[in-house]
Amino acid sequence: HTRLLHNDPQGLATAAAMLRAGGLVAFGTETVYGLGADAGNDTAVAAIYTAKGRPGHNPLISHFASADAAFEQVEATPLARRLAERFWPGPLTMVLPRTARCGISAVATAGLPTAAVRVPAGQTTQALLAACGFPVVAPSANPSGRVSPSDAQHVLAGLDGRIDAVLDCGPCRVGVESTIIDLSRDVPVLLRPGGITLEALEAACGVMLALPAGSNDARPTAPGQLSSHYAPGLPVRLDAHSVAPDEALLAFGPPLPGSALVWNLSATGDLHEAAARLFAGLRFLDMEGHRRGLVGIAVQPVPGHGLGRAIRDRLIRAACPRP
Ligand code: TXA
Ligand code: MG
Repeated sequence: HTRLLHNDPQGLATAAAMLRAGGLVAFGTETVYGLGADAGNDTAVAAIYTAKGRPGHNPLISHFASADAAFEQVEATPLARRLAERFWPGPLTMVLPRTARCGISAVATAGLPTAAVRVPAGQTTQALLAACGFPVVAPSANPSGRVSPSDAQHVLAGLDGRIDAVLDCGPCRVGVESTIIDLSRDVPVLLRPGGITLEALEAACGVMLALPAGSNDARPTAPGQLSSHYAPGLPVRLDAHSVAPDEALLAFGPPLPGSALVWNLSATGDLHEAAARLFAGLRFLDMEGHRRGLVGIAVQPVPGHGLGRAIRDRLIRAACPRP
């Protein structure tokens, strides 16, 4: 049985104590809820993989209360320091070489010579990390491959009974995961679009970022090239220009006529609002659509610039053929 901890001094203290004792505690960040464990505790980190059903070769992000704390564990390049100054606390993750004294478990970094680090924003998140005083690894708090959680109830829906507690930090402000940039190679590479836009990141870096093959660049990517992720139970149909009566509709802007079950990401076409409502919308349409016997979720086009890049990336993966 999983405890629901409230966002008050006692809830925070309990969450920190459980993490210190090697427990698994989910907590809210500005992006999504993460499933936290003490990054230095091999057993606790291994338990995250078991609870999520996550493949062991997929490494985790370590979370810190400050950039100084992060840069004890990884080698800070000048560019890393600049990006930290500009975007932390906030939804940016940097992949950097581990330092010689790095205390992050090799289980969390899948044996790689690098580690992914970030300083999340949000008062409760910051307070929790400060109370812990050690790095906290946290993948999104959902069973592997499923839709990420943007509130405490989403976490319980997927992981109740498999983790020790969830600290209720309210709904997530940003709603999509952090942007990941790899700074461990010759040139910076965007590994995942997210809450910090590519435009803002390129402006801060002063260079164009390399995008790995198969990533969500300006050209539409075939879902077949990517592995299924963020998957609801119902199949997802992208860039719909019409909707059938037996489909649910994930709308953006003025909704298409024809569906009785609609979740509008943003009636006004605001990408920030759309990101914050994305995962809750996929969950709602999936659950309610399934209850009503609908056959799928049609998604109206979302532009690929700004936060739309991260939204489209998640939708493309949600639409991937399931293994
Ligand atoms: O917003 C977020 O980043 C959320 C919150 C909880 O902080 N966390 C999150 O974690 O999205 P997760 O596990 O769902 O995604 C972590 C990603 C994975 O795609 C993983 O492959 C990548 O980070 N990653 C972690 N360490 C890495 C490394 N050393 N090199 C390359 N990629 C790495
Ligand atoms: Mg995830």
